Amino acid sequence: MPNKISIIGAGNVGATAAQCCLFKNLGSVVLLDAVENVARGKALDLAQAAALHKHRFPVKGTADYADTAGSNVVIITAGRARRPGMTRSDLLNSNASIVKDVTSAVVEHSPDATLIIVTNPLDVMCYVAWKASGLPHHRVVGMSGLLDSSRLRYYIAEATGTAPHTVEGLVLGEHGDSMAVLTRLATVGGVPVTKLLNPEKLAEIRYRTAHGGGEVVDLLGYSAYYAPGIAIAKMTEAILDGSHATYPCSVYLTGQYGVNGIYMCVPARLGAEGAESVIELELTDNEKNQVATTARNIRELLALLPEGNSPA
Ligand code: LAC
Repeated sequence: MPNKISIIGAGNVGATAAQCCLFKNLGSVVLLDAVENVARGKALDLAQAAALHKHRFPVKGTADYADTAGSNVVIITAGRARRPGMTRSDLLNSNASIVKDVTSAVVEHSPDATLIIVTNPLDVMCYVAWKASGLPHHRVVGMSGLLDSSRLRYYIAEATGTAPHTVEGLVLGEHGDSMAVLTRLATVGGVPVTKLLNPEKLAEIRYRTAHGGGEVVDLLGYSAYYAPGIAIAKMTEAILDGSHATYPCSVYLTGQYGVNGIYMCVPARLGAEGAESVIELELTDNEKNQVATTARNIRELLALLPEGNSPA
């Protein structure tokens, strides 16, 4: 049996994630949307590309959760998208209720799946999904830092005149403006970026990384989807392929980085059981303060959730 990946929400992010998972031949894909014809139409379009792109697993569009049964990975992108001038937190309440309902339906049909949450505000939606799922917390992970660090790597590559894949970099914290962008630890071909770029340029890169999603929203009028789509597929691949890749992503913390009881982005090793472990790094005092601030931001958002969803 090939691996089965279900994607809830056939908007730009969900459909691009489906495309990336298919192109990587990660498994069969079910694309589910409340608007059935959108899911079916996008699935048919993707299927029609198979001969040319050499993807070999089927893709099905549906509005019926029964079609997602037995998934190994379920990706939840359903929810309202950001509009210009809107922060991720503006989305909080409407998306919390969507994510709760979707997660319950997903887990009913795929009790053994690992869930990748993509809906914003991301770290809060991970918490909502975890609560609604009844799963161990490590089986619910959020796609955040892999996308944010991809933006960081791109901006460093642009500034140093090198290829983005030769750059490594890490972010911690909220998938939002308060994230801690750790340029101190970024490298270009193993060389610390602090040796290559001056502090002013690094500060600019940190700002653009933290606001990278918003910059796209301002240009397009809606959210990014190419970079999010491939980030979702890379996380799916790490969960399915036994590589145990370590990626920054939103996971439930139990004291690591001084944070307890919330989802937040940290480097985590991924595998069949979701987040297998969290890697803790030595931080400077300044970075520790940033982590404390970004964790506080997530907690403040969580506190806005309707009763029953917020942390005990
Ligand atoms: C972004 C959305 C996908 O960061 O969260 O672009």
